[in-house]
Amino acid sequence: MKFVRTEKYDKQFVTENLMGPNALKMLEELISTLDIHSGMKILDLGCGKGLTSIFLAKEFGATVYATDLWIAATDNYTRFKAAGLDNLIIPIHADAIDMPFADEYFDAIISIDAYAYFGTEASFMDTKLAPVVKQGAPIALAFAGFKEEIHDNLPSEILAFWTKEDVEYFHSCKWWRNMLSESKQIQIQNIQEMACFEEAWQDWLDSSNEYAALALNDKQAMESGAQKYMNFISILARKI
Ligand SMILES: C[S@@+](CC[C@H](N)C(=O)[O-])C[C@H]1O[C@@H](n2cnc3c(N)ncnc32)[C@H](O)[C@@H]1O
Repeated sequence: MKFVRTEKYDKQFVTENLMGPNALKMLEELISTLDIHSGMKILDLGCGKGLTSIFLAKEFGATVYATDLWIAATDNYTRFKAAGLDNLIIPIHADAIDMPFADEYFDAIISIDAYAYFGTEASFMDTKLAPVVKQGAPIALAFAGFKEEIHDNLPSEILAFWTKEDVEYFHSCKWWRNMLSESKQIQIQNIQEMACFEEAWQDWLDSSNEYAALALNDKQAMESGAQKYMNFISILARKI
């Protein structure tokens, strides 16, 4: 796939603010079939340093609630002001399991490379996430996973660089489908592996910001063959 929108962004700015695989490429692929437009209120959950929030505001004129746990709201606000987008992006420091939003507030929820950190309990969708989005609205999630469930027999390429705990939140498309099928509040539309996997990972492996340095194990694992067991998973659903 060609990342026509992503390519417009300054590579240095993107690289400096990556916290994992290229979030803009993941986002551009994830939302390619969605109708995102000006005036929508979007929850960007686990937005990290806000790259995806900037993209959603700039490309579509959407109002974005840039919500994250590890990155301070003031840090993101500084970036949004510098991008001239502080009129469209609201920086929020919050935990996904205790969000400060009204029920049925959002027109869409988007989450890139974050959902697996907090969404692996089946109850999370119906008790925490789905309530804050309007009926019929899209919920779009993308994150790293495994091609198959290999937790009971982790290959040496993975165990050489990661512990069992490091990879416990990686799951297969089938696992996510089974788990999310328990939700009474969403209808799953599509769960699939993403095309951007290699390209978006490579951008991360090539970057050298503070987070990339911390994630040295990611780099070594991927370069030593872990890549063949991994993928990115996209999930598109709608609130019933
Ligand atoms: C790998 S980073 C990805 C950040 C960003 N989405 C990106 O792709 O550049 C994972 C993000 O998930 C966020 N996160 C993890 N657990 C969270 C939670 N319980 N509530 C909100 N955000 C959370 C972290 O704060 C972090 O910024």
